[in-house]
Amino acid sequence: MTQNIQRRRLLLGAAGAAIAMNAPLAGAAQPRFAIGENDFLLDGKPFQVRCGEMHFARVPREYWSHRLKAIKAMGLNTVCAYLFWNYHEWREGKYRWEGQRDAVEFCRLAQAEGLWVILRPGPYACAEWEMGGLPWWLLKAPGDKFLRSRAPEYVQPARRWMAEVGRVLGPMQITHGGPILMVQVENEYGFFGEDLEYMRVMRKALLDGGFDVPLFQCNPTNAVAKTHIPELFSVANFGSDPAAGFKALQSVQKGPLMCGEYYSGWFDTWGAPHRRGDNARAIQDIDAMLNANGSFSLYMAHGGTTFGLWGGCDRPFRPDTTSYDYDAPISEAGWLGEKFRTYRECLLRHLQPGESPSPAPGKMPVMAIPAFALSETAPVFANLPQQAIQEASPRPIEEYDISRGLISYTVTVPAGPAGLLQAAKVRDLAWVYADGRMVGTMDTRYRRFSVELPARTKDTVVEILLYTIARVNFGVEVHDRKGLHGPVTFRSKGGAPQELKDWQIRAIDFDADAELPPLRWQAARAKGPAFWRGSFNAAKSADTFLDMSSWGQGIVWINGRCLGRYWSIGPTQTMYLPGPWIKVGRNEVVVLDLTGPRASRIAGLTAPVLDELHPERDLVRPPSTVRPRLAGLQPVHAGQFADGPATQDVKFSEAARGRQLCLEVVDTFDGKPNAAIAELALLDANGQPLNQSAWTIAYASSEEARKEDGSALNAINGQATDYWHTAYSNGARTSGPARLVLDLGAPADVAGLRYTPRQGPAGVTGRIKRYRVYVGDKLVSED
Ligand code: GLA
Repeated sequence: MTQNIQRRRLLLGAAGAAIAMNAPLAGAAQPRFAIGENDFLLDGKPFQVRCGEMHFARVPREYWSHRLKAIKAMGLNTVCAYLFWNYHEWREGKYRWEGQRDAVEFCRLAQAEGLWVILRPGPYACAEWEMGGLPWWLLKAPGDKFLRSRAPEYVQPARRWMAEVGRVLGPMQITHGGPILMVQVENEYGFFGEDLEYMRVMRKALLDGGFDVPLFQCNPTNAVAKTHIPELFSVANFGSDPAAGFKALQSVQKGPLMCGEYYSGWFDTWGAPHRRGDNARAIQDIDAMLNANGSFSLYMAHGGTTFGLWGGCDRPFRPDTTSYDYDAPISEAGWLGEKFRTYRECLLRHLQPGESPSPAPGKMPVMAIPAFALSETAPVFANLPQQAIQEASPRPIEEYDISRGLISYTVTVPAGPAGLLQAAKVRDLAWVYADGRMVGTMDTRYRRFSVELPARTKDTVVEILLYTIARVNFGVEVHDRKGLHGPVTFRSKGGAPQELKDWQIRAIDFDADAELPPLRWQAARAKGPAFWRGSFNAAKSADTFLDMSSWGQGIVWINGRCLGRYWSIGPTQTMYLPGPWIKVGRNEVVVLDLTGPRASRIAGLTAPVLDELHPERDLVRPPSTVRPRLAGLQPVHAGQFADGPATQDVKFSEAARGRQLCLEVVDTFDGKPNAAIAELALLDANGQPLNQSAWTIAYASSEEARKEDGSALNAINGQATDYWHTAYSNGARTSGPARLVLDLGAPADVAGLRYTPRQGPAGVTGRIKRYRVYVGDKLVSED
């Protein structure tokens, strides 16, 4: 009798048996872990999942146990881990699971520490990881809509990946004696698409791969209902307002309430202020979720470091910093401070019967390293491979089987007057030389794809050195093909553009682990882009933080291992160097610097510097004097948004065509002069969002840049958690209405917009009430 009731209470047991209400698990042995009507059930008993996220790729393997101990000590009972497909299959068909990539060992260690595991194998992950975890070689296929769709060029390799994951990690499921309780299908797909069949195909790929634990999907609160299907349990992701998140879940399913990602902090991008989480609010929310019999996963419990070249990029183009500290309770170097203490205090109040607190692990030793010089150099131009690809016009690097790195493009421009050299597209940064002299930079952040070429008295060799930083990890913009895209043209003053043909292309492909190519070292200092080499002696192996503040931009290697990227514009100024990667004795450090250091020395500090911005160290960017020009223009639409955090679609009475769109704020719900926007998407005639990959901010009336990152780019980066906020600190307040002008890169038909207000509880500042929309080709001009 009790058995029957118990069985009927199971909503989702083994992955295949969806709603057990209609499909009782007659005769089947009761699974150890199942999803009941109100609770997760572990061995038949209600179980609250108190989970924390940690990505093993972001933590030195030697420290996995230490960090897992800290997660356990914080009062969590489960660890959540993404698998990044491209980390395991950087070259098609060559799967790698060794060393840092040993996911099975990570699960074993978690189990040894008494933690359960939630696995999120993708195929798409997001996570501020290169291309959201998708392998770059998928981009060899044409098109810019096939990723995360049912197109065979995506589904076939994705299914192969899921089968491989099943082969390797299937045995680690709870149903086979391992710690894996649940497995996630895709990631926030409802934030991206609406093809329910796609979710079914991805689910089936995991089932076919041998997964037999419950499968689930996660979506931000706003998108939970959009892609919910009965075969998959839904959880909601949010960083505030748990009640709204749980309500969204209750509207689509019966079952336990779970937050799939509760944000303890946020990630940093190069050039924007360091982010911090609101600790008091987080503790309150976690308490509330647990009191409501809810479950959660903290994103992140421990962020760690995006070592190597695995960092991702926000759209349209804001690359993520190497530090993934995330302001998480367990710091980048595994330190347990005040934040950890308050989380622990809260979580220990919610231990379940039979659980007892576990002790926090000690701090790993830290050491300073006296400043050492890097005095040998290997200029990039002298160290490019001899062999060149000959091409009429450059194509994206994926088409040449180049994954990422440094790519040199040379072409001859005939003698003649000065003019403009213009590429169709440049991903990501490029330095342009004419007969060995730097004449300018190209920069995808500002869609600056052209440089002025001076007058030439003879044929001139133009060499463009291109540096790839990261593929966008969010939105359709993941179709992020790198390199210089032709046609490249030259237009003399007053003349017509002429296509430049016959290019020579040479590349240093940094590949999966950025192994250094053979380099010819010299004792002299180098000018321009170069590798630099030096060494330090260590009496012991202990953690340290390399101070990169006197360098420009590039990559660091320690004893041949790629540590990661640096960029002294900040906010991160140091690089976490884990002790186990330091040898007792001599350690070799190589730095690639694209712009040249101010001083070619490095010291190891005993604490990180994560929050120091230096915009003056950036590539030259002319000061903007752009102003909106709306006088005499009629708005294409005027309206009023609803109050609250919900995303809202607005349809214009008719589509308007133009290259720019201005949203003008008339007033806000709190009646204060500040405005905020979490996300602004534009819709086509079918109500579908326009591709944002060519968008830039043409104008923002102001941006908060001190107290928080209120940059206007936050309104178009696809993340609802951050937002554009007009300036309020430092007395900086502009007069007149708040305005945001988007430049779409090319004229488009805009039939409506999708507005996501600043998230959070009632009363947050900046939620827009009345507004006007203008569309045109020239809504802004220089003063
Ligand atoms: C989303 C994704 C995560 C991560 C966070 C931001 O919620 O699911 O992978 O990108 O945003 O850190």
